[in-house]
Formats: sequence, structure tokens, C-alpha cells
Amino acid sequence: MIDVQALLKQLDECTTLDECESFHKENLAKKGLLAQAFANLKNASPEEKKTLWQMLSHAKKSLQEAYDAKIHYFTVQEINKELANDVVDITVDGETHQVGYYGLLAKTRRQIESLCQQMWFVVEYGHDVVSKYENFEAVNIPLTHPATEMHDTIYMNDVDERGENFVLRTHTTAIQNGMFKKYGVPLKAVMAGKVYRYEDLDASHDTVFYQLDGIVVDKWISIAHFKDFMTKLLSWIFEFDVKIRMRPAYFPFVEPGFEIDATCPICQWKWCNLCKKTGWIEILGAWMIHPNVLREGGIDPNEYSWFAFGIGINRVVAIKYGIKDIRYFTNGDLRFVRSFA
Ligand code: DAH
Repeated sequence: MIDVQALLKQLDECTTLDECESFHKENLAKKGLLAQAFANLKNASPEEKKTLWQMLSHAKKSLQEAYDAKIHYFTVQEINKELANDVVDITVDGETHQVGYYGLLAKTRRQIESLCQQMWFVVEYGHDVVSKYENFEAVNIPLTHPATEMHDTIYMNDVDERGENFVLRTHTTAIQNGMFKKYGVPLKAVMAGKVYRYEDLDASHDTVFYQLDGIVVDKWISIAHFKDFMTKLLSWIFEFDVKIRMRPAYFPFVEPGFEIDATCPICQWKWCNLCKKTGWIEILGAWMIHPNVLREGGIDPNEYSWFAFGIGINRVVAIKYGIKDIRYFTNGDLRFVRSFA
């Protein structure tokens, strides 16, 4: 007969989950001791059978309960052990990652682009290396113009199909001709990127800086559109309601041309040194694309009206953030970069 007390003692002496499992296999599982005892009941006499069956059922119940309690006890212990080992010490130094962010130039360029995109402008970047044709002739700068001389332009050794040396673009206006040819008209596009000039370096001159040109060519485009657009753009950049004024100026690729002044973002009419106590600060060049530039791009100037503008991004950023020397933008000094993170 089954000695329940002995079996309970045996179970009580199990000290690990594995030992409990073997106990279960030997006694409580399908082919275990109790199962066999139940099977053997068939050999007992009918009178004995009932009492034996009751005894066995009772034994099985107690053993099963004891076994379940034991398993529960071990499982809880196991979990507690894991939790105890799994302590996270938040005071230990973790791995540090440097989080990237846009520098001031990229941030400002993207701000301008995103405003223009909201107004359905195409955004293009062109190439840093361009032909003399793209940089000069296509935008109405004759090759006899002083800007094409060695002291302004950086020439490459490679030559184009006309046998002329490629140049590093001196302005983003060099992208205009390609835009006209690629998209035709009507067209609204902004073109941004690095430009290169062979300059003597000082606080306001660097050999590499960023520009952004914009063009709008459509029917019935007037100076009112331009003024409204530019006021919005500059207000967006400088983050206050900017007023603009336009003064006649000469650029070979526009006729007539304007120099655009904006409310001085530093003092906003309180007359500071930056605006030389005028309240205005010169920001960019603009106005009507020269008919020659349109013709060169395959567009009939008699059918369309238009405007164009060119902004020096470094200049705008330097004004906005009071940066005294634009060489900071390119000298790779991370203290400068990080100070505007
Ligand atoms: N390309 C000129 C520069 O580098 C800037 C400029 C002026 C661009 C007038 C334009 C414009 O598109 O209309 O100084």
C-alpha cells in the first residue's frame, strides 16, 4: 500500500525544482506510483475496491496539493533571486552618445527652404563645380567681367566640352540656367549651397560661404508679390515683423535690380551700431531676372514676368545671432558649433 506520510516527507526533502520534478515523475505522473496503484485496483475484491479507491484518491489529493505548494514556493524563490540579481544601478556611468543637430547655417537654410516649400517652391542644390558658362555667361556676366578674373574665381584643372576650365561656383545664381532648362516655366525654385571665392580673409569675408537664390517666373508676377514674399521670408528668418525697403542696385543678372534692406533685427528701430543708427540693414540682392538670362534658359521674356533674389546665408545668420566673425562658420571650432546647439 502507499505510504503517504513517507512520500510527503520525501517531497518535503526536495530542495530544488529539479528534485520536485523527478518526484512528480515517479509518483504523480501518468506512469507513476499512484497511477499504477489505481490500475492495480482491478485485482482487488469488489468490497476492498471502494475503500482502496477512496484511500488512493485521498493520497493523490494530498500529494498533489503538497507538490503544487512546493512548486509555487520554488518558483517564487527563483523569481526573487532573479530580481535580486537584476538590480540596475542608475548611478553607474552609462555609454554616452553625442546627439547630432543642425548647425546655424544648415538650420537657417532649411528654415528658408521649408517656408518656400510651403509656397510650392522646388528646392535644388546644383553642383559645386560648374562650367564658366553656367556661372557667368548664362546669367548675363560676360567673360570680360572682372568677377571672372582669377582673383575672384577658383578654377579647376579639368575642362568642359568648350575646352574651358570648370570653376567652383561663385554664386548659387549659377544654378538658374539649369533650372530653366530642366523645369521650364512657370517655375518657382530656391537653390541653395556652398559658393567659393578667392578672397582675402577677414571678419566678413571667407572663401567658402552659403547662398540661396530664388526665382519665380509666371504670368502677372509683380513687385507686389515680391515685396510680400520677401517680407514674409525675412520675418520668418528673423522671427519678428520685418519691414523691407528696396534701393536700386546693379547686378548683371537682373534688370532692374534692387538691394533689399530690412528692419535691423538687432535693435528694431532703436538705432544701434550694426545698422549705423539708420534702423535698416542691407540683406540681399534681387528683382527682375534679366531678359538675357531668361532667353538663355529658353524662356520667352515677352510672355512671362518674374523676380529673383539671392541671400548670403552666412550674412543673415551672422546678423541674427550677432556673430562678429564669419570665419567661425568654417574654422571647425566645435566650441562655436556647440554654443548654438
Ligand atoms: N548672385 C548675387 C551675388 O552673389 C546675389 C544675387 C543678387 C542673386 C540678385 C540674385 C539676384 O538672384 O537677383 O552677390
